[in-house]
Amino acid sequence: MKKFVAGMSLAALTMAGTMAFAAGADDYKAKCAMCHGADGKGAMAKKMGSHDLADPVVQGKSEADIVKIVTDGQGKMTGFKGKLTDDQIKGVAAYVKTLK
Ligand code: HEC
Repeated sequence: MKKFVAGMSLAALTMAGTMAFAAGADDYKAKCAMCHGADGKGAMAKKMGSHDLADPVVQGKSEADIVKIVTDGQGKMTGFKGKLTDDQIKGVAAYVKTLK
């Protein structure tokens, strides 16, 4: 029984993770892709001074670092504090980490 309960909560956690990830992809498309491109290599952001989000410079950052950049902004990119919830920002940060 204990094993069953542990298995269930693990499945629930995995599902919650997957859902946050799917939401992250949608929020990315809605809020980030116009500058960074669907694949993180958008010409607009690069012209304004961003790396490709798939670049090792960005991929070398932790998810927490990316959360901070997206929340507070960096350089010409204004922060998303108040425009996206903390959970949404975590979701897009997780999504950024999958760009290659
Ligand atoms: C208005 C265009 C624009 C939008 C919209 C935008 N960004 Fe950016 N982003 C930039 C620019 C320009 C930079 C480079 C800032 C700098 O360092 O000078 C940047 C930098 C970044 C970086 C750090 C990259 C680096 O080179 O250090 C990350 C990560 C990032 N953006 C993620 C996001 C995410 C996630 C979203 C959506 C929630 C988003 N951005 C929305 C323009 C944009």
